[in-house]
Amino acid sequence: MDPALLVDELVQRFGPKRESLLRILWGVQRAFGYIPREALEALSAKLSIPLSELIGVASFFHAFKLSKPAPINIVLCMGTACHVRGNSENLRLLKAMNLESRGIGIETARCFGCCSRAPVIAIVEGSGRILKLFGGVTPSKLRLVVSEATKLVGGSRG
Ligand code: FES
Repeated sequence: MDPALLVDELVQRFGPKRESLLRILWGVQRAFGYIPREALEALSAKLSIPLSELIGVASFFHAFKLSKPAPINIVLCMGTACHVRGNSENLRLLKAMNLESRGIGIETARCFGCCSRAPVIAIVEGSGRILKLFGGVTPSKLRLVVSEATKLVGGSRG
């Protein structure tokens, strides 16, 4: 679907007012898995809100994505328990692996709700569906996570 057409529908459904902004953004995010720039431009015109302000709002909320997610993403929990128990180092190591060139995105999230297994890392589809969850991820266990993500990228392409 055309992002601008979806914005038209959502503005009609929720009303052409500033208070509807988050519901409209959620609708776009749900439909595309991220918020395309065309949708923000259409929304800016419809609600007479500057594009820069819309980008600021969408960037503020962690759940909104402004770029198309990779088909497979390694998502590190950066909640307190996971952050303290090693995911900052895991993030640094993963970023150094240049996984994007293999079609694997790296994202962070707040809390997966299983803090006793910290540090937690998930493999997540572009749609947001969790495919695998790993607990107690030490730097040596990262290889397993990357290997699983690589297999899933192969599966998502085939
Ligand atoms: S802080 Fe990581 S799962 Fe809760």
